[in-house]
Amino acid sequence: MGGWNPSQYLKYAGPRLRPAIDLIERAARALDAAPAPGAVFDLGCGTGNTTRLLAEHWPAAAVTGVDSSTDMLARARSSDIGASWMEAELGDWAPPAPPETYYDILAPVARHLEIWESVYLHVLDGDDPVVEWTKATGFRPLLDALDGAQRDGLLEDYRARIAKAYPKRADGKTLFPFRRLFIVAGR
Ligand SMILES: C[S@@+](CC[C@H](N)C(=O)[O-])C[C@H]1O[C@@H](n2cnc3c(N)ncnc32)[C@H](O)[C@@H]1O
Repeated sequence: MGGWNPSQYLKYAGPRLRPAIDLIERAARALDAAPAPGAVFDLGCGTGNTTRLLAEHWPAAAVTGVDSSTDMLARARSSDIGASWMEAELGDWAPPAPPETYYDILAPVARHLEIWESVYLHVLDGDDPVVEWTKATGFRPLLDALDGAQRDGLLEDYRARIAKAYPKRADGKTLFPFRRLFIVAGR
């Protein structure tokens, strides 16, 4: 996408930023109970004004601004914003696989670096074991945000979907493949 003019765009930088501030505040509140994000992507980052806010808000996250305009990105790259920049058309873009993200963060400061992934095929006993597993982890913040009939309704729907995705085997066990990322880094 061409034609974006950084100087013209930045003439009203203050008012233009207001919606982004509102959105980040809202997102931060919604994500309050979740672990702090490790990676944040600003899609259509332009000159990086919103990227700066994201980097300030989540200082421990690896923040990446993605935009298709070379001119807008040049302005972003020349700034002091603590982020990485990526030129890409959003229609073709997908977030990098996590291992590469960790490599980019650690490689500059590590003398020794090993990264690998394994998929563990957990063999679980009992009824709805995958639901019981995820109720303590990824599904927990969603359940915690609801109560009463809404919580019960979500749980019932989730239970039915999970039972279809992870059916009990003939021997009564449920197989739950779980991908883990391992990193060994030394200075
Ligand atoms: C209005 S600016 C917003 C910049 C920034 N988010 C901000 O709030 O200051 C829109 C940006 O989105 C980018 N953009 C629009 N469509 C895009 C696409 N399909 N792929 C990548 N970037 C795109 C443009 O290059 C431009 O820099």
